Amino acid sequence: TTYLTPAQEDELRKIANAIVAPGKGILAADESVGTMGKRLENINLPNTDENRRKYRELLFTADNVISNNVSGVILFDETFRQSTAAGVPFVKVLQDKGIIPGIKVDKGVVPLAGSLNECTTQGLDGLSERCAEYKKGGCGFAKWRCVLKISEHTPSHQAMMENANVLARYASICQQNGLVPIVEPEVLPDGDHDLETAQRVTEEVRLVYICCFRMPCSFTQTASIKKKKINRDPVSITFFLPLHLPPGITFLSGGQSEEDATINLNAINTYAGRKPWPLTFSYGRALQASVLKAWGGEDANIKAGQDELIRRAQANGAAAVGKYAG
Ligand code: 13P
Repeated sequence: TTYLTPAQEDELRKIANAIVAPGKGILAADESVGTMGKRLENINLPNTDENRRKYRELLFTADNVISNNVSGVILFDETFRQSTAAGVPFVKVLQDKGIIPGIKVDKGVVPLAGSLNECTTQGLDGLSERCAEYKKGGCGFAKWRCVLKISEHTPSHQAMMENANVLARYASICQQNGLVPIVEPEVLPDGDHDLETAQRVTEEVRLVYICCFRMPCSFTQTASIKKKKINRDPVSITFFLPLHLPPGITFLSGGQSEEDATINLNAINTYAGRKPWPLTFSYGRALQASVLKAWGGEDANIKAGQDELIRRAQANGAAAVGKYAG
């Protein structure tokens, strides 16, 4: 039997290509309730439904110029169901800007029993039904985050196989429901390992894609792969370009400062190596840190927060085509 009809494949390809269009990337605004709580705590706001809603309204109602550099926004389930104070669903606010709504569909990391503090990601149960609902509700793509940890004995073969397999299963289920899967095997930067180790592990983790191809779900996933302690030498950056990943790679920011995340993306794109795919951003913290600070929970500062978001989006949009001038 055929896996996807040509029409289904075309639709997925169209969405994926729009996400990685030149000068555009993803705003990851899919913080879970708990993670969003930590962000709000930093600006002394309680973690209420309304504060989370208000903050997301700030992000999604920024001036339309944002869509020159933001092609997609990843939502959390709660946000997918929320609306502006005036009652317009957030999904519609984004669609009206020409931005593709995306959705985080995993249910978080859980311990991998028998491993040295490694983990896998849960959420396959009922995934197909949830994807169908998100698709019907206007989403075009999905995200599922897996985590791999570098230490003397990790990542283990067990962890790499498990996470590769669960990502491939997720990707296949998404595609059958018309959602482009972002395949995110995040190699954490934590630890005191060197650049070469980070390179080796990142390459080993490419196993994920081999599993995906076997599933098969090639040609429509984008990927976020964490870069480890990249110095400004573009040659070292090339180590982190994984192979076999059409039609694009979207890097997460992973705790880098906003400026470093932009400079490093720019360095990747100005490096004179062979780059068969668009290399762009799927940034959470590196697009939002200044926004939260400028807003501080005050209605009077909403515009100031939105201006910060636009500034970062423009900087990263330029970096995505190697034209960030600082
Ligand atoms: P950070 O950019 O904050 O690491 O998060 C990105 C993300 O969630 C990618 O999907």
